Amino acid sequence: MTIEAARLIGPGVDRVDGPLKVTGSAPYSSDFGYPHMAHAVLVRATVAAGRIRGIEATAAEAAPGVLAVITHRNAPQLGRGPDTPYWRQPPPPLQDDRIVHYGQYVGVVVAETAQQANAAARLIEVDYESAEPLLDLNDPRAELLTNPWGMDAHRGDVAAGLASAAATVDATYTTPDETNNPMGLFATVASWDGDSLTVHDSTQWPYSVRATLAATFGVPESRVRVLAPFVGGGFGAGLRVWPHVVLTVLAARTTGRPVKLVLTRPEMFTGIGHRTRTVQHIRLGADRSGQLTALEHEAKSSIAVEDDNYEPVAADSATAYACPNVDTRDLQARLNIPPPTSMRAPGEAQGNFALESALDELAYAVGVDPLELRLRNYAEDQQQLGLPWSSKALRACFEQGAERFGWSARNPRPGAMRDGNWLVGYGMAGVSFFWFQPPCQARASVRRDGTAFVRSAATDIGTGTYTVMTQLSAELLGLRLDQVEFRLGDTDLPMSPMAGGSGLTAALGSAIQAACRGVIQAFLDTADDPVSSLRGCRLDDVTVADGHIHRINEPARGEAYSEILARHGLDELTADGDSAPPKPEDVGMAPAGAFAARFVEVRVDADLGLVRVARMVSAIDGGRILNEKTANSQIIGGTVGGIGMALLEETVTDPTGRIANANLGDYLVPVNADVPELEVLFVGEPDRFNPIGVKGVGEIGLVGIAAAIANAVFHATGRRIRSLPITVDQLL
Ligand code: MOS
Repeated sequence: MTIEAARLIGPGVDRVDGPLKVTGSAPYSSDFGYPHMAHAVLVRATVAAGRIRGIEATAAEAAPGVLAVITHRNAPQLGRGPDTPYWRQPPPPLQDDRIVHYGQYVGVVVAETAQQANAAARLIEVDYESAEPLLDLNDPRAELLTNPWGMDAHRGDVAAGLASAAATVDATYTTPDETNNPMGLFATVASWDGDSLTVHDSTQWPYSVRATLAATFGVPESRVRVLAPFVGGGFGAGLRVWPHVVLTVLAARTTGRPVKLVLTRPEMFTGIGHRTRTVQHIRLGADRSGQLTALEHEAKSSIAVEDDNYEPVAADSATAYACPNVDTRDLQARLNIPPPTSMRAPGEAQGNFALESALDELAYAVGVDPLELRLRNYAEDQQQLGLPWSSKALRACFEQGAERFGWSARNPRPGAMRDGNWLVGYGMAGVSFFWFQPPCQARASVRRDGTAFVRSAATDIGTGTYTVMTQLSAELLGLRLDQVEFRLGDTDLPMSPMAGGSGLTAALGSAIQAACRGVIQAFLDTADDPVSSLRGCRLDDVTVADGHIHRINEPARGEAYSEILARHGLDELTADGDSAPPKPEDVGMAPAGAFAARFVEVRVDADLGLVRVARMVSAIDGGRILNEKTANSQIIGGTVGGIGMALLEETVTDPTGRIANANLGDYLVPVNADVPELEVLFVGEPDRFNPIGVKGVGEIGLVGIAAAIANAVFHATGRRIRSLPITVDQLL
């Protein structure tokens, strides 16, 4: 059984869930309801630090329709969710009177209707004893965490490499807070039946929600079911189990009623994470030809007072290019800010901006073309492990991307290219993106009517999981797309990891591959009877097509799934499959990242400083592409996010710690007029690290855009902008 000669893999297949979505019938968490359901509304702290002196809730409790007002004064003691491999879950809410960030939940009001809950919530008066919040990344009073994930890299001797360099770059880059802002407002619907709990949630990781709620409320995981068949976007915001989820479940337990809670847009800015701001210091040294002799990258990002966040900013710089002398350091400063979280390419998006900007500066310092500089420092091996990559087509990304873009037409002198009043700039960036594949399980059944049922507790956050897993299952079982039912988003299904780290397609696809092989093996075991033309066949002797299993060397001999089941009086055969990545030392290769080269043309109004992105070419090495159409959408979506990061997005905190632009009118994201034609090329080969050959493309689409645009702005104007977003005031 091979997917080398795939029929369904590769070319664009429409989303199998498309009709449900465009007809508005795909159920998101806020669409679920129960009879006699009550509604919850949150009360948020209006100060960023201090304690609650008193809460006056009498009027709210007496307001029409109110069922409960829960604050720290009457909330039960709650447990904390178990640690994950990446972070600890946030502490449970309403456990004491301390305030550690603006927007922290200080109460929840439950009423018959959402309107009544809202009206009552406004009657609650909280008296704060406020303290001066820590808000500045460089505040010396802020607790500093060093090497939080053990990922700091050291090799060679950076000081010696800098001392021997013919040219150096020493620069500081900053990136702001940004907010994920999925379109779907996060919502939770919770219903208790005795000690059994059912929760509909906007999550990227149902198993983590289940484990956290079980621990928080002291019930066995087997009594908790979490459903998330559709999620209206996440970008990382749905990886954690946020306090509003716990509060909805608490509200349901307190009132004995099913409860729904839908976050408001302002609450989405304080309650479900954001990308951390960073300050990054880079020092590069190179010889006269541009060959790197030293690379040092120190990054400081922000973290909340009582939380963990996985945000390796500098780590990727250790393996992106060949360099003998490297130091990378990640630091986190604890501040009185709402908890940050992963936002599409967490850490890597900010780190790449600094590194790829610094390389552009180095290219000018040594007088080498920026593309040529990257090629001269190409890392053939994984520099930290000293192992070959499981695949790497970054060189092809650079070459094919440059060719398609027309990079050779670039006049290297800044300000040399002009079109009327527009200053024209070409910029580029390389991307080495470390995605990861966590363990995963799936189950596959083939039924008497010749259809298959494949499932796992994964989520599709808009990425195309339903579609590509249906394609892959159909391919692996020799069925048509319409003969495969693929289900996800339910903790009653086999364990799936988060839809995060760009790893779900590899993890789930590999588990489905194992499950499908298991089903075919089960058919071969069953068909080991005197009448079967498959008697004695092993898995490697057969192939599948049109609902049949055939001998590879005698294709005329074979049987239909339905024939085998009917002869043995069976309704279906089922198999479980699981997947886990191998250890690099066991297979003698390093898990490849996804790789990319981004080329962009910007136009800067010579008088107004207005920056327009004119066109862009992205060459992406994502290994085997299961569905060019959805993969292309992933890259385009990420690229739009990258344009936002480069030119528009910034979550503004005022001096009191309040978020000043917590709405989509004041928080700027790209609109159609900001986005030119985006061209995407997929290059490279199937990867060798997992059996289906895929690499994660969920996040890489965003990475490299900010640097490519900043580098193009320098080429257009001669102005090096080291602080995102690049705004008009910096260019005037
Ligand atoms: Mo992604 S930021 O790992 O959902």
